Amino acid sequence: MTAFTPTPDDRFTFGLWTVGWQARDPFGDASRPPLDPVETVHRLSELGAHGVTFHDDDLLAVEPDREKAIAAFRKALDETGMKVPMATTNLFTHPVFKDGAFTSNDRDVRRYALRKVMRNLDLAASLGARTYVCWGGREGAESDAAKDVKAALDRYKEGLDLLCQYVLDKGYDIRFAIEPKPNEPRGDILLPTIGHALGLINELEHPEMVGLNPEVGHEQMAGLNFVHGIAQALWHGKLFHIDLNGQHGPKYDQDLIFGHGDLKSAFFLVDLLEHHGYDGPRHFDYKPLRTEDPQDVWDSAAANMRTYLILKDKAAKFRQDPEVQEALRNSRVDELARPTLAEGETWQDLAKDDFDVEAAAARGFHFTRLNQLALEHLMGVRG
Ligand code: GCO
Ligand code: MN
Ligand code: MN
Repeated sequence: MTAFTPTPDDRFTFGLWTVGWQARDPFGDASRPPLDPVETVHRLSELGAHGVTFHDDDLLAVEPDREKAIAAFRKALDETGMKVPMATTNLFTHPVFKDGAFTSNDRDVRRYALRKVMRNLDLAASLGARTYVCWGGREGAESDAAKDVKAALDRYKEGLDLLCQYVLDKGYDIRFAIEPKPNEPRGDILLPTIGHALGLINELEHPEMVGLNPEVGHEQMAGLNFVHGIAQALWHGKLFHIDLNGQHGPKYDQDLIFGHGDLKSAFFLVDLLEHHGYDGPRHFDYKPLRTEDPQDVWDSAAANMRTYLILKDKAAKFRQDPEVQEALRNSRVDELARPTLAEGETWQDLAKDDFDVEAAAARGFHFTRLNQLALEHLMGVRG
């Protein structure tokens, strides 16, 4: 039995804004003091994380002088060996972004937003980040009269095209990852799901430079199957990054600890990530509960990583279990990987096929057994 103790090789990363969340919500004030990013880097390193990620403004949590804050952050990274695989921009807190950033109706705001991203791209590149996340939390509307959505998509494209050109001109080794979300803080957010974002990427000047950073809770807020969304993102070669957390179905964005929402979906997600070629960071974007004190915050960070490692172990045992392998064969799961036409066949061959429809209709797929086996592995009564 492994101890489920994370090491940097597991590539667990955390946003500074996660453990640093002071737990202000629409109904109440902060319940925790601000956290120094330097302390975050040291604490997460002691817990076995690989790195941290940040919004430009996160670095200023306790030190308002940008240069001083960056110097202290760099020093902490050097001392611990922690990495910064991803960075992003805060385009949502300041009231200037109340109608959005790249798609604000106010052209001056759009220009300011792009300047803010460019400035932080320079820092991201100098810290070695390879992924730059774009979460358009305020890109949206509460009234359909207030936003010309087609024009907004033109501006979204214009902004992303400009930023790709900036990265190319500067020679940075950085790709962009769009993070979809259906609503909150806006009533409706543009690019609400993985599918919408994939559609936009195809219209860009440099589609190869732009992929996705899907977040567990965001697809689940829309009632969608996150595992299917991630499988499709992988299929398109667009899973550039991932935000792991927990959510209980369609309601406000809970940002729970990974696995503390839909645990069964978390199990199948880890199974997919571990066995189907995702090699990026396992990034946690969660909020420690507002009820928690500063020590609980570090316990919650550790809980994310421990849960992931437990699920990874369970998923491996599920795959190795001979009864599961037999059940998978009985359910003909592997048969789907076989092309529908044989080599050299055409529609003409298909047209003459003779097929006993009633016999095929009578064959069961035995998915119940497979699902029960998965649940029993998850519940710890097998393997
Ligand atoms: C959310 C979002 C944010 C973004 C992050 C990056 O929970 O609504 O996930 O946390 O990921 O701010 O910009
Ligand atoms: Mn979220
Ligand atoms: Mn996120």
